[in-house]
This record gives sequence, C-alpha cells and structure tokens, in this order.
Amino acid sequence: MHVVDLQDAKKSFGKTEVLKGISLEVDKGDVLAIIGPSGGGKSTLLRCLTMLETLDGGRLAYGDLVVAENGPDGHATYAPKKVLAEAKTRYGLVFQNFNLFPHYTVLKNVIDPLICVQKMPREAAETRGRGLLEKMGLTGKEHMVPCELSGGQQQRVAIARALAMNPDVLYFDEPTSALDPELTREVLRVIRELALEHMTMVIVTHEMSFARDVADKLIFMDGGTVVERGRATDVINDPQHERTRLFLANYQQH
Ligand SMILES: Nc1ncnc2c1ncn2[C@@H]1O[C@H](COP(=O)(O)OP(=O)(O)OP(=O)(O)O)[C@@H](O)[C@H]1O
Ligand SMILES: [Mg+2]
Repeated sequence: MHVVDLQDAKKSFGKTEVLKGISLEVDKGDVLAIIGPSGGGKSTLLRCLTMLETLDGGRLAYGDLVVAENGPDGHATYAPKKVLAEAKTRYGLVFQNFNLFPHYTVLKNVIDPLICVQKMPREAAETRGRGLLEKMGLTGKEHMVPCELSGGQQQRVAIARALAMNPDVLYFDEPTSALDPELTREVLRVIRELALEHMTMVIVTHEMSFARDVADKLIFMDGGTVVERGRATDVINDPQHERTRLFLANYQQH
C-alpha cells in the first residue's frame, strides 16, 4: 500500500485548469522532488494533497484511508470528516514562508499541536519538542519568539513542528526560496539528514542539485501535467523531453 496514492487529480480555478490529471504514488522512505516552471501547478498540487484545496476530480488515499474518490457524477467526493481528520495526522507541510505563530515561543510553536490536537501531556510534549529542536540545531532558542531568529532558523522550527506530529510523509513547498544562500544551506542540510534517516518526503524545489542529490524520484510538471518522471539523477542529468531539457538548461544559466 502506498503512503500517498493520488490518481488523475484535476483542479480548476474558474475557467483555468491548473491540474489536468496528475497521478503520483509515494512509498515509505521515498524522497520525491517536484520541479517545474512557475505557474505549473506545483503548489496547487501540494495544497490538494494536504486538503487546503479540494480536488474537482480524482482519487486520493493515505495508506488505507481513502480521502477522496470520483463519485458517479465523475467529481471527487470527500470522505466523512472523521476520516479526513485521521488522514490529516498522516502528513505534515512546510511552506516557503515558515508559517509560525509570531507570538508563540519556539518551543510552543513546536509542541502546541501535540498538546492541543494529539492531547499529549505537556511534559512528554516538551521532551519531544526539545529533542526535535536539538536535532534541528536549535538548542538554546526554545524561549525565543520567531522574529528573534533568522529565516533559516525559523524554517527549521517549522520543520520541527511538522515532525512533532510524527507524520508518515512530510511535504515541502519551496522550503528555501525565501532564504539567502547561507541560510538555504542550513535548511537543506537538515532535509538531507532526514532523507538519510529515510523520512518519506515530497519536496517542491528550485534547487536542482539538491533535488538530484537528495531525491530518489523526480517529477517535472508544466502546465498542470506531468511532463516527465523518473529517477532524480536520470531526469536531471539526461532529460528525455524537450520541455524538461529547456527548463533545466535555463536553470543552469542562473
Ligand atoms: N486560489 C487560486 N485562485 C485562482 N487561481 C489560482 C489560485 N491558486 C493558484 N492559481 C493559479 O494556478 C496556477 C498554478 O499556480 P501554482 O501556484 O500551483 O503554481 P506553481 O507551480 O506552484 O508556481 P511557482 O513555481 O511560482 O510557485 C497559476 O496560474 C495560478 O495563478
Ligand atoms: Mg508554488
């Protein structure tokens, strides 16, 4: 059974068809990179996978939990709330802009969902939170508020918060695009470490060499479709489609 199983995902905003039938499967331990030009639908895809947007058509399952599937009318029909709530515990999402609560301390940002959603006792949550912050290289920052940290540190807090819930899969939407190169390196390093620990991850990124080194699978998306998919090293080193070649060639000039 796949950790994430998405079939024929369709999504439009008004008359604009943004996802034109995307399928992807993620298995335990996979690191899947999604690359492609701006406006190609990558964020919309992640937002549909994480139920921040609803699919118009297609099927989405997390392990044995079917979140949505096409009904008789051909439109995606979502499972009852209880199923959706359980599916939501199976993934975490890290955005480009960190999305921390500005008035919470670092530690509270990490453990608040554990206490409020998972009902973990405070002491156990704090122990877990401190451990994750240590892993992210943030020991000593527990009682600061986000604005006292660098962007790279804030992003590592966001990663710790996502990991706190012990998700089956972690999604990243351009986790470093708001950061300068130095801070980007720190964040990529922790994602690399998670990959070495076989954390299952789906990463939308513009960092091509990172995608090649860290991901095992890769999808190139353009215009709401998957143009090319394969092993990350194969697609980046030797793209088979003209559109992939052009995209990668433009990249190497920057
Ligand atoms: N809420 C929305 N309402 C209307 N149109 C939207 C909405 N969200 C996204 N779109 C449109 O969907 C298309 C795909 O956007 P999306 O953000 O998914 O692309 P992307 O691949 O993530 O791009 P980028 O690399 O710039 O982040 C764009 O044309 C965008 O304008
Ligand atoms: Mg995007």
